[in-house]
Amino acid sequence: MAELVQLVTSAGAEVVGKIIQHLTGTSGAYYVGKGKLQELIDLREKLDYTVLVLDDELAPSQQHNLEEALKVKVIDRAALILDIFARRARTREGRLQVELAQHQYLLPRLAGQWLHLERLGGGIGTRGPGESQLETDRRLIRRKIQHLKEQIEDVRKQRSLYRQKRQKSGVPVVALVGYTNAGKSTLLNALCQADVLTDDRLFATLDSTTRRLTLPDRTTVLLTDTVGFIRKLPPAIISAFRATLEELGEANLLLHVVDLASPDAAAQCRTVEDILGELALADKPRLTVLNKIDLLLERQRYWDEKSALDYLSKEVGPPDADTVLVSAVRKWGLARLQEMISGCLVGNTAVPKS
Ligand code: GTP
Repeated sequence: MAELVQLVTSAGAEVVGKIIQHLTGTSGAYYVGKGKLQELIDLREKLDYTVLVLDDELAPSQQHNLEEALKVKVIDRAALILDIFARRARTREGRLQVELAQHQYLLPRLAGQWLHLERLGGGIGTRGPGESQLETDRRLIRRKIQHLKEQIEDVRKQRSLYRQKRQKSGVPVVALVGYTNAGKSTLLNALCQADVLTDDRLFATLDSTTRRLTLPDRTTVLLTDTVGFIRKLPPAIISAFRATLEELGEANLLLHVVDLASPDAAAQCRTVEDILGELALADKPRLTVLNKIDLLLERQRYWDEKSALDYLSKEVGPPDADTVLVSAVRKWGLARLQEMISGCLVGNTAVPKS
């Protein structure tokens, strides 16, 4: 729920109330049970909310039924994430991919939007004006999806040409992956003295950004930052962002950045592992970068890099051979991280995660 609140805030809305229900199944007509529906209706009288957001993907009919019963806009998790993506996409490629995901999401949901029109025309023949309008709309959307796919394919070809050039040049690629808000952009900035947008909003980075980094042993690598992962990432997003995510397949090494200060760090790691698995990247050499260690320290003491790292190594035990403690904001642990990157690229010592 805390994450959903963060998502809602990232989309620019204010949260005025929360309701939780343990459901045995999510296939009911209203997604929530009858009692909860009444609670939501009562709450609308009290709080006058204008949007209801659910933490799951709703069936189009459930969304429609809820909207009818509550007389407010109903948004599911997938639509919320798509909305945030739409706000953040900056490059042409990013915008094309979000638009494709939005259209793919919309297509099966068109029917619900036209139901009320059909009802108005009910009784006048079998195909009301809504129905034929619906078919026209569906056709338009399918055509749009096709067009977007073609444009994305062009971008993909350009990217692949660029990648071939890059491969010929022999410069290794290190890609940052991680749960949204883990600190990937901040780490990229800290390592490369780059100025990539960092923000305490989810999905601040949508378009992959690549920077050159010279390691202490003089090796040059390309460090790239990609879209953050999240629990229940809508499948439409994964498929639409395949062009961007394909970049990860070309990387010589993945840095999995983890927000160690998050109470959900373990679950977030699992989500990232699952998505990497879906993208057939589970066997890529990988280093785990445990970030935001500054937030784990007692606030009142003065900390420097050495005392912080010594203290944490004692508290949580020395990190594994493929794990490193850092604070991207304080620039702690970066020398060790760079050494480990060099080690992996030279000796390929990074172990694939299971
Ligand atoms: P997405 O673009 O959503 O995928 O996020 P990201 O992983 O690129 O995270 P970003 O670098 O934008 O950082 C998210 C927030 O965490 C920002 O407010 C950063 O200032 C903060 N942050 C990042 N690293 C650290 C750190 O080491 N310590 C502290 N205290 N905050 C950090």
